[in-house]
Amino acid sequence: MRKIKIFDTTLRDGEQSPGCSMNLQEKVELAIELDKLGVDVIEAGFAICSDDDFNAVQAVAKVVKNAQVVSLARANEKDIECAYQALKEATKPMLHIFIATSDIHLEHKLNMTRDEVLSRVESTVKFAKERFEFIEFSAEDASRSDREFLAQVYSLAIKNGVTTINVPDTVGYSMPKEMEELIIYLKANVEGIENVDISVHCHDDLGLATANSLSALLAGATQVECTINGIGERAGNASLEEIVMSIKTRKNFYEAYTDINTKRIYKISKLLSNISGTPVAPNKAIVGANAFAHEAGIHQHGVLKERSTYEIMNVEDIGIPQNKMVLGKHSGKHALVDRITSLGFDIEDYNVDEIFKTFKSLADKKKVVSDADIEALINAKESVENPTYSLNNFIVNSGNNISSMATVSILNDKSEIIEGVAKGTGPIDAAFTAIDVLTNNKAVLLNYTINSVTEGEDALGEVMVKLKYNDHTFVGRGVSTDIIEASLKAYINGINKIS
Ligand code: KIV
Ligand code: ZN
Repeated sequence: MRKIKIFDTTLRDGEQSPGCSMNLQEKVELAIELDKLGVDVIEAGFAICSDDDFNAVQAVAKVVKNAQVVSLARANEKDIECAYQALKEATKPMLHIFIATSDIHLEHKLNMTRDEVLSRVESTVKFAKERFEFIEFSAEDASRSDREFLAQVYSLAIKNGVTTINVPDTVGYSMPKEMEELIIYLKANVEGIENVDISVHCHDDLGLATANSLSALLAGATQVECTINGIGERAGNASLEEIVMSIKTRKNFYEAYTDINTKRIYKISKLLSNISGTPVAPNKAIVGANAFAHEAGIHQHGVLKERSTYEIMNVEDIGIPQNKMVLGKHSGKHALVDRITSLGFDIEDYNVDEIFKTFKSLADKKKVVSDADIEALINAKESVENPTYSLNNFIVNSGNNISSMATVSILNDKSEIIEGVAKGTGPIDAAFTAIDVLTNNKAVLLNYTINSVTEGEDALGEVMVKLKYNDHTFVGRGVSTDIIEASLKAYINGINKIS
């Protein structure tokens, strides 16, 4: 069995997906969780790109203790020096240099000849090697590059000290067979390749990112670059959970393993969708809501008799909370803490008294309190330290032949209760307008989604809103058995993130 390294690029390539930008605090939270998940490498950002990116790489470098922390850099000295400064405090810093190698990119983007690319690779890798022990080199658009030239570029990069060569299918153009052949070709034609890691980085434009990455593994790649929930530029990157669970489920086929603690997969998937405000599609492999749901009677019957008839993985291996009844209104704080811990949350990160209070009021309203409910309550904790506003009371009047009217009162950071009244085209519009007036909110509502956490009429409703302010996106979340309350909480949470 050989170990496959997992290089996570959720914070860099993943953040390039539309609507998935994260702030510094969120990136740090995710990086800590990625480190606990057991990824080998965390690409924290592209340091030179902006002050926000630099600060995020620096902050992630400070908190990550086990994984290597990487910054992306173009093949020039300014980018490399900037990445070096951002990574100074990392326990295991690593640089990721890239330059395009396909003729299309050379002609239309870089305006460089092949010889110029070769000499740039040589000089910048030399420059980087004076600052970094570990360097990954990517030939952007490798899958559409001339193979001989590609082998020449990688050989030169290795000669000058890179420790990983990365083979990106930048535009998701490759077929699995071609990816396999490309790795076989490079293994036979790149000088020194036996001394470095061979990484693959596949995009999902044709829905083949996971298949291409796995084909590369079969051909001898030793590292896969991927993102949680498969987020990333355009159609996304190879999804971490699909790669990891394929290797785990078919370990005899791949004769390989990863160091990922798969029981934390669901938790980080949910954390990312909460942070980015992008729900996971129900039919998404591994972490989608339907991934383990059996609708057809024959299937249900089979699974009840013997799970392996229709299930190839164990839900527990992915850490998905089950809809079984776990606690009720008579349960004590100790039982709740026990349950929270067994769901994979670190209890010291939460205010137990506050969660217990919310749990008790939920248990009064709901007949059945499941793991999924508890998880939703925990994820709904106020994510802003010292929030400026919190919901106090509301009354909403609505009907099909009257205009909706909302009276909302909120508590501000001076402990004053302020109340506002507004009309709207519907109950949510009226309630949000009242909040806008009370908080002088100027952000624009980009998106509103509501999901029920469990089945049944008394289910918790989980609302996510995306607000746009000064070209930044802010995600707010709220949970309640009352969907208007959940909406108001989500909206106020979003506004608190701006203030
Ligand atoms: O897709 C790509 O080619 C990249 C490189 C920077 C590795 O993201
Ligand atoms: Zn990419």
